[in-house]
Amino acid sequence: MALRPVLVIPDQRLRQVAKPVKTIDNSVQSLIDDMFETMHHEEGCGLAAPQIGVGLRVIVMDTSQDIENGLVLALINPVIVDKSKDNQVFKEGCLSVPDQSAQVKRSREIIVEYLDREGKKQTLVASDFTATCLQHEIDHLNGKLYIDYLSPLKRNIIINRVNQNYS
Ligand code: NI
Repeated sequence: MALRPVLVIPDQRLRQVAKPVKTIDNSVQSLIDDMFETMHHEEGCGLAAPQIGVGLRVIVMDTSQDIENGLVLALINPVIVDKSKDNQVFKEGCLSVPDQSAQVKRSREIIVEYLDREGKKQTLVASDFTATCLQHEIDHLNGKLYIDYLSPLKRNIIINRVNQNYS
């Protein structure tokens, strides 16, 4: 296992669409191990492979802070197959947008299909904080960041703060 450096905006690798995993082999499983280690080290509740510069559709998540609905799992090639019309707002942060946060509106409940670490097809119904976290991480696989949902004014304030702190 190894810690991997997390990319920070405006790194353009965060904006690329990640490719599906074709074969779940040792290299994908050790990627997952590294992602869990990196996420826990950085005290994040989710991490997507593009955040460590790997353009594959892999995410890890640990929302065990949510006692009722929390989950710890890795998802390969996740697809949102259904989402509720009713929304919820959570204050979101992102390891690639360090030390910043903002409120984002997303679906309250989603259904996700994915392959697990062993390549077995799984279906997950997620709600509350876990649903928000999953939507945030799956966005990363499509080159999308939570700041994209904010007004241009709020987005620019956050981008400028990160630029000042990390350039
Ligand atoms: Ni993020």
